[in-house]
Amino acid sequence: MSGHLLTLGELGTDGISELLSLTDRFVEVGRRPIPKVPALRGRTVATLFFEESTRTRLAFETAAKRLSADVLNFSAASSSLAKGESLRDTFETVQAMGIHAAVVRHRSAGVPAQIARWADDGVAIVNGGDGWHAHPTQGLQDAYTLWRHFRPAPDSEPGAELDDQPTLAGRRIAIVGDIVHSRVARSDIEAYTALDASIVLVAPPTLLPAQPREWIDCWLPPDAAKRVEISHSLDDVLDDLDVVGLLRCQRERMIDGLIGSVPEYVARYGLTAERAQRLAPDAVITHPGPMNRGIEIAGDTIEDLAAEDRLLVTRQVTYGVAVRMAVLFRLIGSGTALGADDRG
Ligand code: CP
Repeated sequence: MSGHLLTLGELGTDGISELLSLTDRFVEVGRRPIPKVPALRGRTVATLFFEESTRTRLAFETAAKRLSADVLNFSAASSSLAKGESLRDTFETVQAMGIHAAVVRHRSAGVPAQIARWADDGVAIVNGGDGWHAHPTQGLQDAYTLWRHFRPAPDSEPGAELDDQPTLAGRRIAIVGDIVHSRVARSDIEAYTALDASIVLVAPPTLLPAQPREWIDCWLPPDAAKRVEISHSLDDVLDDLDVVGLLRCQRERMIDGLIGSVPEYVARYGLTAERAQRLAPDAVITHPGPMNRGIEIAGDTIEDLAAEDRLLVTRQVTYGVAVRMAVLFRLIGSGTALGADDRG
């Protein structure tokens, strides 16, 4: 892994697999009575969030603290940005306080990459979600959640080797909704295809890139691109899915002008009770959150699928902490393996 994590494409299949395998270790740490190890003692992680977040920010903060790092929380709204300070001056001010990593979220694509160019050697930048571009740790947590749903890890002693390779081979996953504005869709596509899943992107033409086939073919490696299909009808693909990955309708990113109306969207793309009935009995649902109840998924359907343990949203969040521990450990840890002495 290079010094930063900006997209999953730059990690490649080997890098993604390595991080998912390492995540097993941190899931085990999270289950201990005291879920804390000293792996990043003396290190400082800054969370630089220039756009709203609940899950990503808290997951990184929790991950850093469970690794015994110090955490600097930066909030744009209450910072000197409001007095006109530039992004670069803001970052360099935080960096001058002595940080080892910064997690950056921004509404504009490319900001984490730009900050990585300003960062001193030895300071790792992690993309916490940039515009429509990428959300690599979300892609990792979603892939990990599905891998461990379909292939649960054996109970193991801390430090024991878990020898299976991360894979979603043979699984068919629909990614449904606002593809064009979704950094989650892009990172999920990269993660799932790296693990050999087949993908179908389901959306109206207005919520897909203008030339979706060309977009996929020019962006993904050829082996991955050939496993991605496009459909404008959820009903056409529903019977044959292992996973329905719902995306949030991003009203802050102008979706209202791109669909006829919310009821029309729900009628064609919402996971209603009727559609949930048509799914294979073991098909599961993911959603990156926050969910718009009654739009992407019907309120009653949420409760019904949760009762059947087929709604993986909570597990995505729980695993999101372990995934981010793996990312921080690989980027700024000493590389020392976690041992029995680290047990809480
Ligand atoms: N999934 C996700 O990125 O959620 P937040 O915006 O709450 O971080």
